[in-house]
Amino acid sequence: LTVKADKPGVAIQPNMWGIFFEDINFAADGGIYAELVKNRSFEFYEPLMGWKEAREGSATGGILIQNLSTTRPSNPRHASISWNAATGVYSLTNEGFRGMGIKKDLQYNFSLWAKTEGNVKLKIELLNASGASIGSTTISISGNEWKKHTASFTASATEPKGKLRISFEGKGSLDADMISLFPNDTWKNRPGGLRADLVQLLADLKPGFIRFPGGCIVEGHELDTRYQWKKTVGQVENRELIVNRWNTEFKHRSAPDYYQTFGLGFFEYFQLAEDIGADPLPIINCGMACQFNTSEVVPLNQLDPYLQDALDLIEFANGSTDTKWGKLRADMGHPAPFNLKMMGVGNEQWGEQYVERYKIFASAIKAKYPGIKIITSAGPSPDGPLFEYLNPILRSLNVDFIDEHYYRSPEWFLKNASRYDTYDRKGPNIFAGEYAAHTEKKVQPENKNNWESALAEAAFMTGLERNADVVQMASYAPLFAHVEGWQWTPDLIWFDNLRSFGTPNYYVQKLFSLNKGTNVLSITTGNETIAGKNGLYASAVADNNTKDVIIKVVNTGDKEQSVVIEVPGVKKASAAGTLTVIRSANAEDVNTLDNPFNVKPVEQAISLKGKSIKTVLPAGSVSIIKVKAL
Ligand code: AHR
Repeated sequence: LTVKADKPGVAIQPNMWGIFFEDINFAADGGIYAELVKNRSFEFYEPLMGWKEAREGSATGGILIQNLSTTRPSNPRHASISWNAATGVYSLTNEGFRGMGIKKDLQYNFSLWAKTEGNVKLKIELLNASGASIGSTTISISGNEWKKHTASFTASATEPKGKLRISFEGKGSLDADMISLFPNDTWKNRPGGLRADLVQLLADLKPGFIRFPGGCIVEGHELDTRYQWKKTVGQVENRELIVNRWNTEFKHRSAPDYYQTFGLGFFEYFQLAEDIGADPLPIINCGMACQFNTSEVVPLNQLDPYLQDALDLIEFANGSTDTKWGKLRADMGHPAPFNLKMMGVGNEQWGEQYVERYKIFASAIKAKYPGIKIITSAGPSPDGPLFEYLNPILRSLNVDFIDEHYYRSPEWFLKNASRYDTYDRKGPNIFAGEYAAHTEKKVQPENKNNWESALAEAAFMTGLERNADVVQMASYAPLFAHVEGWQWTPDLIWFDNLRSFGTPNYYVQKLFSLNKGTNVLSITTGNETIAGKNGLYASAVADNNTKDVIIKVVNTGDKEQSVVIEVPGVKKASAAGTLTVIRSANAEDVNTLDNPFNVKPVEQAISLKGKSIKTVLPAGSVSIIKVKAL
């Protein structure tokens, strides 16, 4: 193999490798959003979903759900609770999202909005799976005006399946809403914040961008349940929740309790992007619901509110604090702009209806904000009639980016490692916005994040990197999945209520992202690109900042191969470096909660000697060779 280190090729975008966030598989509520109480504001379809009343001894008590939809449309319901527990106990227990993950010695912050005619006292208690108390406190409430009340306490034991019990003492009544419990160890210790272990896994990827909020949830099953960013900002208690688009999907694993409360809303997405050094990439609804479900569209002459949402979003992210939406950003704690540079118009839409709507959005956005790059949908598939219809039109419109999605077999990924070698260099850039190798046809448990899928993705990614002039951004999808609450497999990161792990696919993403370099270098055998010959796939980059030459070679074959890599153009004829290899003996190998590092990269020293590197590429492996030779 020969790497031409003295001829640095096209620049690699600093944000090339990013992440795709969608609230699917309980990624947000019940996942990265650290709220432990399910249905905290009684707004789920069944108002007491997640809650259980109990009366012990001679205690009495009951709940009346009040609906104030006329005066309080964004959060209409609250609970009017009355009880007589002079003897016995009347309580309400919340089951959490498939239980609550509780950690010994950690502080928990309870809060509720309440009003009462008298003085009432509540006992707030964490229970383990057997119902024993593992931490409690009491809270006294008085005052007949709505007010937020808080109490903190420490858990005495670790419990993956905890619950929250509220016991009502004496005799009394209370109006209650937004009953909430957060651990104190959120990311950056933000009150009402995000689960730190999950954010850390994202930060470790050093992602160049974060695409949010999806995915199909941008579109909604129908337009009423589309994602509307304006309803996700401002005070948390005023954010109007909606049923999650993945709530009823895949009946055998249905999640009727899957809602979007928007505690993780657009402000928090922008903040997360900033925290992890990623460019924000919001996708907005273009007046079309999910075309897999319905053919619901907004007539062209009624698109204005949708268009206004797009324009106002740019003002929210970047506008001066004198503007309406820029001021809201400042009021929420971020006067500085979020530096939004791009946005997606529609997700996986297709057909004539999409083209018509895209044109209207593009002309309005570019007229007001010419610097904003627009990402267009390419439909759900990288080939077939929808793509064949749409792709030439988008190319003729010379759009900024086409968002291609590929959920395909490992074989498809290997074959398509050279997909972009022949793409028109003068046409639009490509955003490989959603991809994952699926070893099974259906989204089912057997469709695992195994080594076979990760290896195929790595081979494909060498093709993306070799063509970084055309493919300027890429993200695996979906990102997160709760082991007990998923609707889609495979997924990059899995978690339960307390633990989380990166899949082999995660480590492949991480190796590419952390070794992205600044310029593409040519790597060939003879004069040929290495994309499948002898089962090898390769790409190389120079990093002008660190003076590294970085070579990625994927051996998809079942035999090890010895290679000599000639690097004739380097400045230093000998240089020290590292060889990082990720491999696994079996294609079926996976990581799990109990064995999270079964497949992981291993690093060793390597050096360039006389302008060449000799190494052995193990069967079924990804090798990253990095030498300080520039
Ligand atoms: O990533 C899961 C889904 O796949 C996304 O929501 C959608 O864009 C695609 O069909």
